[in-house]
Formats: sequence, structure tokens, C-alpha cells
Amino acid sequence: VARDRFRLGEMTSASDAFAAGDPALFVDSRQRRRLVVLEAGAQFHSHAGTIPHDDVIGGPPCSEHRSTQGARWMVARPTLEDFVLTMPRGAQVIYPKDLAAMCTLADVGPGMRVFETGVGSGALSIALLRLGADVTGYEIREDFATRAGRNVRLFLGGTADERYHVRLRDSYEGLEDGDFDRAMLDLPEPWRVIPHLATALRPGGVVCAYTPSITQAVSVRQSLASGWFDVRTIEVLHRGWHIEGQAVRPDHRMVAHTAFLTVARRSPITAR
Ligand SMILES: C[S@@+](CC[C@H](N)C(=O)[O-])C[C@H]1O[C@@H](n2cnc3c(N)ncnc32)[C@H](O)[C@@H]1O
Repeated sequence: VARDRFRLGEMTSASDAFAAGDPALFVDSRQRRRLVVLEAGAQFHSHAGTIPHDDVIGGPPCSEHRSTQGARWMVARPTLEDFVLTMPRGAQVIYPKDLAAMCTLADVGPGMRVFETGVGSGALSIALLRLGADVTGYEIREDFATRAGRNVRLFLGGTADERYHVRLRDSYEGLEDGDFDRAMLDLPEPWRVIPHLATALRPGGVVCAYTPSITQAVSVRQSLASGWFDVRTIEVLHRGWHIEGQAVRPDHRMVAHTAFLTVARRSPITAR
């Protein structure tokens, strides 16, 4: 594992001043959020007037601005959670609650070689790259691969370029690459990729499959029946709370079911 390939200092620091081309999150007093890519001479348009991007460019990474009609907007660098929920997307993205769980279950860390398929809009790619992994992604659709690359670059700048390799390939047909530490699967039939991991994933390596339906999770589990250990399937429920003085209760709405996460470790190849 080439740990020296990851240097946090390469990434845009959260304390850097805004520059043209940076993503900026605008949040109004009613918590409405808009992601904007800053451009010299451009205007941020809202229902209540405009704010020149030039007022934000060169300024601190979090500041308050008034629109031409007096509306207050907080402008800040988006967090990974903000970015994933507001970034341009083609394919459906993995929600932050599942991104966090997947990265923890798969124990993704700096310098690890991670295989990812499909790449979709790049939400999971961003989370993996942010953790310092070296990501090889297989994606069948060129438009999605392009979109993912743009989203990665927009959030991480060019700093992740060397660690992000997307190939236009059908991963059901096999893997050209190998020697991976981790594999992250988010495509309709992950059980068709798992057999290829028998050689592409190192012994002790972790696979994590994201499947919206339980029948998919069952098929994943069947494909993990031999050659794998520590196999588990979980789901993550995320419930917010309304807290205002003594009025304290769970929110009426919650991010409940999104997907099942199945995780397993590759067994060593043993002589029989
Ligand atoms: C739900 S999206 C992935 C979203 C992604 N995890 C994210 O966070 O943005 C599923 C992706 O799998 C891709 N896909 C489907 N079948 C595939 C295959 N056989 N090989 C490679 N990619 C495939 C689709 O084109 C689509 O982009």
C-alpha cells in the first residue's frame, strides 16, 4: 500500500479564500441551499434579488451576503455532504448516510487500491478519494463517467487526478485490473462482479455492495457463500430530531430506507 501517495496538504484547504471555479454553497434564512460554481462577472440569482460572484471571490470561505432585495445568504465551502446532495447528477447518488457507512464497513484508508463499479455520478468516488484511496472505476456509460470525473474535479480540484482512473467497461465481463485492497459495488447485479473479485481482490480485502432491494441483497449473499468470511448485511436509518426549547421530538420525516449494505472479506486461498 503506497501510503506516501496521499498528502492531505494537496487538497484545497477549508480555510482558503474562494477563487473563481470553486463550488460555493448559498444557504438562506429558511435553510434553502444552492450550489454555485463561482465565475468572475457572474451573478447569483434568487427569488429575492442577486449577489455578484465577485463579492464572494477572493473572500473568506464562509461569509454573509445581502442580495439586491436585502435577503441574507450565508456562503460557505460545501462539505462533502452538501456537495453530494446538490451536485449535478445523471445516475442516482448514494446518500451521505450510506457513503459514511460503506467507507467505514470497508475500512477505506489512505493509499488503498479501491475498485469501484458503477461510478454513476461520482458520489462514492468523491468519498473514497477524500479518504486518500487510489480508485479504479468501471462504468458502462460514457456520459456518466464524464459526469463523475467533472464532479470529482469540482469538489477535490485536480488534486485527485493521479488517484482516479475510470474505464469504460462492463464489469460483469471481468476485470482487467487487480491487486485491489477494497471493492465497492453499486450496480444492478453486483453478484455478477463478485466472482471476478476472487482473483482481483487481495486475501483479507473487503467488498461492500449497495443494493436498494432485499432480493438483490439475497443474491449478493448467495454469491458470497464460499471464499468469503465475516459476511454481513445491514441498513442505515437516519432520523433527525426537532429541538426548539422544550419542544423536542423526532422529525416527522426521515431518510429511512435507501439500500442494504452487504460487506464481506476475501478468504485466503488455501490448499485443499
Ligand atoms: C446507481 S449508479 C451508481 C452511483 C454511484 N455509486 C454514485 O454514488 O454516484 C449505477 C451505475 O452503474 C452503472 N452500470 C450498470 N451496469 C454496469 C456494468 N455492467 N458495468 C459497469 N457499470 C455499470 C450504470 O451506468 C450507473 O452509472
